[in-house]
Amino acid sequence: MGDTRATSAFHTGNMSSDRTEALVAALDAQAASAGVRRLRAWAHLGLAAAPGERVLDIGAGTGSETQALAAVVAPGGSAVGVEPNPGLRAVAEQRAAQAGSAARFLEGDALALPVSDAEIDVVWCERVFQHLDEPAGAAAEIARVLRPGGRVALLDTDWATTILYPGDPEVVTALVGLALRAAANPYAGRKLMGDLAAAGLVVDDIGSQALVQNHREVNWPLIRGITESAVQAALITAEQRDGLYRDLSAAAEQGSLHMSVTMFGVLAHRPG
Ligand SMILES: C[S@@+](CC[C@H](N)C(=O)[O-])C[C@H]1O[C@@H](n2cnc3c(N)ncnc32)[C@H](O)[C@@H]1O
Repeated sequence: MGDTRATSAFHTGNMSSDRTEALVAALDAQAASAGVRRLRAWAHLGLAAAPGERVLDIGAGTGSETQALAAVVAPGGSAVGVEPNPGLRAVAEQRAAQAGSAARFLEGDALALPVSDAEIDVVWCERVFQHLDEPAGAAAEIARVLRPGGRVALLDTDWATTILYPGDPEVVTALVGLALRAAANPYAGRKLMGDLAAAGLVVDDIGSQALVQNHREVNWPLIRGITESAVQAALITAEQRDGLYRDLSAAAEQGSLHMSVTMFGVLAHRPG
């Protein structure tokens, strides 16, 4: 059996300050996409965080949603982002300061949240579970910190839903296989409801949106990165790679390129 460690740069085992700029660029591009904006809007509406409430954003990244939540819980509330990556945490702090936001950020891990029991009204945790080796432990932590009646929005990608079209199915299957290996918990999206229910939380709603790439432009850094890895791992040949590049370029020119992955969101609450 080969090396099964997650290779994603978002995994805490692979954190590196050299990668901060690339991670921020990726998060900013995703934040601008219609699918992420729609899924976030749906989740914020369902959560209905209110003035005075205490909010925790687990795996806050650049802190965009910590800031959004800080705005809705004012006056009197608090919004804290927990972020283990020091480079991302620094960006989140700097952006919040620049925006005049009351959002604050703490070092911490989803498996050991720096918060007392039942202290939190609302938890936001977006696209973090896919990077966790122990998602069940993180769900238990969410249940621990929520007060009875407290709500959570848990959002994540399911990498097995990746579509890349056009392309030789054999090549596409090899590339999707590599994408699945990159994440510690690649099927996170489909498991969210079960993770929360197993932690004793009550699921109230589920929603989904796809993260769809521009159909007229090949995302070459992403495609080259994964395709070259597939050639190196002898999963596909150089000829198959060149054929894929030709197919994708032609499709982008015609506006018929399709690259997407589906994200799911679950809203739940702590009973009692
Ligand atoms: C894809 S980013 C999502 C960031 C942000 N939630 C968003 O949606 O823009 C994944 C985030 O999870 C964080 N992360 C990874 N492992 C974590 C862990 N064990 N505990 C908390 N956060 C973690 C990463 O540092 C990164 O900020």
